[in-house]
Amino acid sequence: MRKKIVAGNWKMNTTVAEGLALAKGIVEKVEEVPADVTLVVAPPFTHLTSVAQVLEGTPIQLSAQNCADEPKGAFTGEVSAAMLKDAGCAYTILGHSERREYYGETSAKLVKKMALAFENGLDVIFCVGEKLAERQEGIHFDVVATQISEVLFTLTAEQMAHVVVAYEPVWAIGTGVTATAAQAQEIHGFIRNTLSAHFGEEVAEATTILYGGSCKPSNAQELFACPDIDGGLIGGASLKAGDFIAIAKAY
Ligand code: PGA
Repeated sequence: MRKKIVAGNWKMNTTVAEGLALAKGIVEKVEEVPADVTLVVAPPFTHLTSVAQVLEGTPIQLSAQNCADEPKGAFTGEVSAAMLKDAGCAYTILGHSERREYYGETSAKLVKKMALAFENGLDVIFCVGEKLAERQEGIHFDVVATQISEVLFTLTAEQMAHVVVAYEPVWAIGTGVTATAAQAQEIHGFIRNTLSAHFGEEVAEATTILYGGSCKPSNAQELFACPDIDGGLIGGASLKAGDFIAIAKAY
């Protein structure tokens, strides 16, 4: 059975105090969440060590939103995978569309980041997804297949056990427009088949594939009911403990 995950990507939101209050609000309600659903929160870097303390002794896992593509040294402004592990992270998100779009995150960089994440004992939430124009052109399957092959196909089957894939259509992120359950299932099934063709069925069946993009309490149930959707990567709705927990309870 593959893991069900609901992960909150806080992006560049909240002060430390607000982030701690949010983390505490999630901890207070965690018992309402089905035991087979793993909650993950991804606060900004500056919040990690203090949020780690709030999460200690709870089943909620800590994630970063990104990590450096070099191990250490003269890379001003970067945060290494080793530092994230040291701060208490179990995961890092990599390849979010906002990083690809605004910060020049290429597949080559992502391959380096992923290797460093694994070396330091972090699991990776690896994001893929097409832009609106790409979907309109009908090339969304090709775009996602390329994002997967350029990065994930450099990994071993053993490393794939430490990867969660997040499908996030760029046109649905923060826009209020969600992919329909049918649209999401179609591409999630495609992603699983793509993984199966390269790594074999066992790896593909064991890989958790999350949906992200305007996922909220009102649409989570329909999305999570799809056979190839194993949870969500939640942006806006993860900034309210009640909404985040309601999404996790939608299973
Ligand atoms: P959203 O963001 O839920 O605000 O659309 C999702 C994401 O970018 O991870």
